[in-house]
Amino acid sequence: MWTYLNGEFISKEEVRISPFDRGFLFGDSVYEVIPSYNNKLFLFDEHLERLKNSLSITNIPIPDSLKDLHPLMMELLKKNQFSNQAIYIQITRGVDPVRSHVSASTTVPTLFMTSTELETNPYRENPDKEGLKVELEEDMRWKRCEVKATTLLPNIIPFHREDKSDIDEILFHDGQKINEGSKSNIFFVFDDLIVTPPKEQNILLGVTRNYFLKRLLEEGFRVLEKEVKIEDLNKADEIWVTSSTKEIQPVHQVDNMVLPEKELDEYYWHKALKVLEEDLKGNC
Ligand code: PDD
Repeated sequence: MWTYLNGEFISKEEVRISPFDRGFLFGDSVYEVIPSYNNKLFLFDEHLERLKNSLSITNIPIPDSLKDLHPLMMELLKKNQFSNQAIYIQITRGVDPVRSHVSASTTVPTLFMTSTELETNPYRENPDKEGLKVELEEDMRWKRCEVKATTLLPNIIPFHREDKSDIDEILFHDGQKINEGSKSNIFFVFDDLIVTPPKEQNILLGVTRNYFLKRLLEEGFRVLEKEVKIEDLNKADEIWVTSSTKEIQPVHQVDNMVLPEKELDEYYWHKALKVLEEDLKGNC
């Protein structure tokens, strides 16, 4: 397994980073996860744009190597060989001489990348597989969730409670308003209307969310960005999650509420997955 750190490709066993790196000390860093299919990056420009936005909001300087990001990622894909991969890129504000809340003006950002095999979405191979089990949780995160920051304690703590080992995803809500998952965006279907929370809510604007919004509209589906409340959940015919690594996956159960069943062809998540699969043929 190969990684990339500050200008060099280094094997996973040999790569080292200082504990004085602000990413380690303060979680002072941002990241992206970019999928590749058949050795081609999918929606690279959209991920790069969001990464630049995260850097700009946090005032982390743009590393020089960012201009060569595409060829560097292609080189990493080549070295790690799997035909479908998920590339992780993290940029921290860099290594300071001493721990200080205020970074030294001379500190240069750290750029780290690694990649793993992208697991095939199980709902592609077996669309009849039972959907995900998700649980609602009050959203305790900060108010700038449009930044893809590595400070993810509220996102991961729920999975580490003793009784939560069989939970696939957590759905964050602000009072009645449902925002998003801990690692995915959320879509709801009411009759033939597909709804996802708007960007004005505290969410990460998922690249996969935006892709499905655009493509489903183009394909003639009724799609709306609109808030969904907890009290609307029992009217939902379908709920799905989307992300760069999960693509699109259906939800079976929210807390104790089980979603209604339909014939496979009637599920909108399945129609959406078909759209993605067709588009990916063009990516190959
Ligand atoms: N997570 N919302 C949150 C909080 C996320 O962490 C993610 C992705 C998404 C979906 O974004 P996208 O479609 O751009 O992947 C939404 C990544 C995959 C992760 O943290 O590993």
